[in-house]
Amino acid sequence: MLITMNTTLESIPRLTEYIRDLSPDVVKLHLGCGGERWKDYLNVDLYAYDPDKPDSSRSGCIADAVGDMRDLQLPDDTIDEIFTSHTLEHFTRWEAVDMLNDWLRMLKPGAKLVMETPDFTRCILWLFHPSSKKRQLALNMFYGNQWDRHDFETHRYVWSGREIKQTLEEIGYRDVVVGHRTWTHKRGRDMRIEARK
Ligand SMILES: C[S@@+](CC[C@H](N)C(=O)[O-])C[C@H]1O[C@@H](n2cnc3c(N)ncnc32)[C@H](O)[C@@H]1O
Repeated sequence: MLITMNTTLESIPRLTEYIRDLSPDVVKLHLGCGGERWKDYLNVDLYAYDPDKPDSSRSGCIADAVGDMRDLQLPDDTIDEIFTSHTLEHFTRWEAVDMLNDWLRMLKPGAKLVMETPDFTRCILWLFHPSSKKRQLALNMFYGNQWDRHDFETHRYVWSGREIKQTLEEIGYRDVVVGHRTWTHKRGRDMRIEARK
């Protein structure tokens, strides 16, 4: 399969237009996809990839549709699943809480939210790990990539498993499960959060 990088987003449809025009029966969103294309998901990102500018915290941008995950503007009870990996930590705490509220509104009753993100507590533990590689992998999580001069790569708030579970439950998610067997990035340091509307 030919993977094309989005070096500009002008020719990529807005998420709202994409869904309006195609009206798919099932809508599974992969938000903040970067260079990771997920089959059967609608891959969404907000920022194009400029190969001439260092952008080392992602593997490009292959979005099917353009959307700001903080403001997706989709109707209530219409989304079958939301998956996102290594994006939550790029937002301030209050932005993340607003965003999680908005996703709950858009998810169909019973639909699933899956997020993978560094676990603050595990990052602290890894800071003292005997392996220098793991110490570095922990250190990078606190402030994110601040050497490539992309504001969207900065980390603004790293959640612990306990805090994200409690917050999701307060917002109204149910069946919230936090584990550390992630599908992406670093198992053990990162957490996988599953919840339902
Ligand atoms: C660290 S990268 C992770 C990329 C991919 N999910 C992965 O796991 O490799 C964070 C991604 O979130 C995207 N992003 C940041 N803010 C966003 C926003 N407000 N709306 C949509 N995507 C956003 C960035 O463009 C980037 O592709």
